[in-house]
Amino acid sequence: MKDLFKQAYDHQAFQKLGHDLVDLLAEHLQKSTSQTYAKVLPSTDPQAQLDKWNIEEGNGSDLDFYKKVLANSTKLQHPKYMGHQVSPTLPVAALADLFSALMNNGTGVFEMGPASNALEYKICALTAQKLQMGPDSGGFLTSGGTLANLTALLTARAAKIPDAWEAGTTKKYAFLVSEQSHYCVDRAVRIMGWGAAGAIKVPVNDKFQMDISTLEDLYAKAKEDDITIIGVVGSAPSTATGSYDDLKALGTFCQKYDLWFHVDAAHGGAFIFSEKYKHLLAGTAMADSVIMDFHKMLLVPALTTAVMYKNRRVAYSTFDQNASYLWSEDHTDEWENSAKVTFECTKLMMSIKIQAIIEQYGFELWETYLEHMMDLTHYFADQINQKEHWETACHPESNIICYRWTGGASTEACNQVNAWLRKTIIDRGPFYIVMTNIHGTTYLRSTLMNPLTETTDIDELVQFMDQLLTEYQA
Ligand SMILES: Cc1ncc(COP(=O)(O)O)c(C=O)c1O
Repeated sequence: MKDLFKQAYDHQAFQKLGHDLVDLLAEHLQKSTSQTYAKVLPSTDPQAQLDKWNIEEGNGSDLDFYKKVLANSTKLQHPKYMGHQVSPTLPVAALADLFSALMNNGTGVFEMGPASNALEYKICALTAQKLQMGPDSGGFLTSGGTLANLTALLTARAAKIPDAWEAGTTKKYAFLVSEQSHYCVDRAVRIMGWGAAGAIKVPVNDKFQMDISTLEDLYAKAKEDDITIIGVVGSAPSTATGSYDDLKALGTFCQKYDLWFHVDAAHGGAFIFSEKYKHLLAGTAMADSVIMDFHKMLLVPALTTAVMYKNRRVAYSTFDQNASYLWSEDHTDEWENSAKVTFECTKLMMSIKIQAIIEQYGFELWETYLEHMMDLTHYFADQINQKEHWETACHPESNIICYRWTGGASTEACNQVNAWLRKTIIDRGPFYIVMTNIHGTTYLRSTLMNPLTETTDIDELVQFMDQLLTEYQA
């Protein structure tokens, strides 16, 4: 037994396997980036995939297992990956992930992750400053936008209903949220026990932004129904169409009624690192909390999300009924034990992956990347809108674009064709795109996330769709 562990921890065996594995990944990267792989998505048949896998012991000495996983996995670094909002990880950040996996410093507790805790504190403080959240702003990293939104909304609840954590809530409370907000916002409110009524849906305008003109009526109606609204959730941007809500208007509304203002910037908070597009985040200066995924538009491996507060000390109230007392004692700026303010206990060394990118390339890499993706999305929209019988859902405000063929006799007929297009595109490859339904209309949907995607890839997709339509109509 002892020998088995000696072998398992042997540094030379690790070095050998590590080199072999990096060689394999380098080859995969080369095939992805040069578009040698015939398809981004290897398989669209879940049962066939299930049938390929058996949990059995191997000899562990070759890389067959990793090769099989590679062959059966989605190739995010392929320039024709234009699907969901997960980033084609930068190789340097992937190496940092390997580094942190071996170190395995628990991070939630200072002694279990001194370096990663300190870096995390500084990264969140810097990002909150960039979002102009004020001199006391800052926060922590957590495992994904879903958990981050839940955490921030729990903080809002603690701030507005101080005894909720201890005594629960018996009255009716709600947040005003966009009908286009990510489903995790609705889920967070239901987790609080407020049911569907806890998320009052604000209708959207023709750009799919929250319709500000409806806020006063919704607020008055909630009051009539004996529901206390405690906050508003803005999207920056929304998931389906990538529409940025008017954050300044939402902030002003929150100030008027003393509401908590939360901004879900999971996808688009990253644009704060672009001089050209940071104006999209104007209004986060008024927010009480903002969340932002580094694993979406900043090329960091999943999951790496910042939760930031205007007053970072408020975070101590989320999971602690005595926090308001503690703040006044100022014991609470205990950044080094982030588990006190996060849902997780043990936490990954997320900050290492972010800092690895900043160390290697500086902020310029993010800025160049963000502007390229945004410009490319505008190019895509132009190509679609100049075609007969095609339209975009709205002018893209971020790197998310929804588009559809409109040449059918009815919406239903068009929906069928668009669904067929999406399925055929991914079945035949190489492209990977997704689909969404907005108010009964099916749209093809792409998030341009891969920095190696070029206008020629967009042109090829548009041509491919034309070719498929001809085939469909023949
Ligand atoms: C606006 C928005 N919020 C939250 C989320 C959830 O983030 P995560 O997938 O990191 O949990 C997403 C995911 O796409 C999103 O687009």
